[in-house]
Amino acid sequence: MAFINANNTTRIARIDLKTFETTEIIEIPFAAGNHPSPYGTENTEYVVAGTRFAVPSPNKDVPLSELSKEMKGVISFVKANEPGKMDVAFQVLVPGYDYDLARCGRGPSHGWCFFTSYNTEQATTLLEINASKNDKDYILAVNWKRAEECIAQGKFKEVPATYYHNVYDEKKHMATSNVKKSVKWIIPSECPGVAYYLPTPKSPHGVDVSDDGEYVVGGGKLATVIPIHSFSKMLKAIENKSVEKEVDGIPVLKYDAVLHCEVQKPCLGPLHTEFDGKGYAYTSCFVSSEIIKYDYKACKVVDRAPTYYSVGHLLVMGGDTKKPYGKYAIAMNKITKDRILPTGPELPQSAQLYDISGDKIKLIHEFFTIGEPHYAQGIKADLIKDKVAKIYPLAENEHHYATKAEKDAKVVRKGNEVHIYMTAIRSHFVPDNIEGIRVGDTVYFHVTNLEQDWDIPHGFAIKGAENAEILIMPGQTKTLVWKPKEPGIYPFYCTDFCSALHQEMQGYVRVSPAGSNVPLRAWTANTQVKVE
Ligand code: CUA
Repeated sequence: MAFINANNTTRIARIDLKTFETTEIIEIPFAAGNHPSPYGTENTEYVVAGTRFAVPSPNKDVPLSELSKEMKGVISFVKANEPGKMDVAFQVLVPGYDYDLARCGRGPSHGWCFFTSYNTEQATTLLEINASKNDKDYILAVNWKRAEECIAQGKFKEVPATYYHNVYDEKKHMATSNVKKSVKWIIPSECPGVAYYLPTPKSPHGVDVSDDGEYVVGGGKLATVIPIHSFSKMLKAIENKSVEKEVDGIPVLKYDAVLHCEVQKPCLGPLHTEFDGKGYAYTSCFVSSEIIKYDYKACKVVDRAPTYYSVGHLLVMGGDTKKPYGKYAIAMNKITKDRILPTGPELPQSAQLYDISGDKIKLIHEFFTIGEPHYAQGIKADLIKDKVAKIYPLAENEHHYATKAEKDAKVVRKGNEVHIYMTAIRSHFVPDNIEGIRVGDTVYFHVTNLEQDWDIPHGFAIKGAENAEILIMPGQTKTLVWKPKEPGIYPFYCTDFCSALHQEMQGYVRVSPAGSNVPLRAWTANTQVKVE
């Protein structure tokens, strides 16, 4: 499975890599922008979500001039290891900064997740200046195993909240929504040890944990160095109480007590870091448009390669695992002026594939992508290629409106609702001629794709529908709703190129005026379909 987040509608979705479709969505209550998300823990116990924007929690009407005093942040841990059962296990209530990116620990640091924050100034206007004043912001380290202890000991607050959990049923070909009514809050002062701040220069963006789990690299986008924290030093600093101050019950550890080293003069605008499993880190540098390679234990830059141009995210194959494959890296770049023929005011984004197997980073391919490529992972094809579904078995189709054979196609009127139980197979629909629809009707086309062949979807669209189309995979049933507004003849057609006679895969609906007595009737060629 893969996870994906939405920012302004604060949600995390699970994508089933058997079908490459979204099969589950959970909303994140109290978050105002879901940016440091959805990074996973070592065994996908959790995927995390942090609030990008700090707002009052619970949200309320306050004058913007007083917002700074009311701002809060929430860091959410979403249970994710059981498909169909994603749930916000708990949220940690944190100071109202902007939480930017995250990574969870592995190996020795398994049990912890790290989140960058900026705007520790808590500015609410002209952030480009006002949120860039502090010399250091923070990486927040959350000990989720400690949080689990506090939950088990009842050290949490159950807070009312309304949010949705949607799950797709791949036999019913439909999603159901469950409304959740509360969430557990952990208040750091009531659960000591759950969270610490690591001072980090300056408005950090990425936070990345090395494959051995020991090093936590901050991407200080305005910093002149790359700070690398040491996980074991952090544990010692906690033990020795090397604390400079406390914010809302969260100890701020001393910078020198947690720092492994600063990579000096790395590049301009370091953002994200990946690892190759051989002791090297690769950091993308937005401002100087390059990738740098460095020995992160020795803190020494060993190579650099230009990108075309401003690189944001980058990925190393398997980079987010304990054992990166480390042969290739991809830079995901934002600005491509002069690389390609112009395509209007906006140009496509570019990406570059590098061979990183040798001492020198070598550019081997450039390709274009749609923007903005925002974090990706490369994994071995073997992990999924033999598990991919080729069809949905028709025999297992439990959709309420499924039609499993052409002889079962039918049209059913219920007052102003008309349900068309339709089938699609190369290269025709049953029925493909329908009469007796009236203006004022709501027509439901329940289309079942009878194919049991890989890569043969059929589509369905009808003239004047206010939704675009449906695309029905082999063995699936999907519904398109249509409200004809005027009498007339309306064509419908298959929207996916399915065969040499794809273009012929079309039909007609006759729409008569409201109150007309044209009987409901449907057929394909000489075969009449049932009317109920
Ligand atoms: Cu069916 Cu094109």
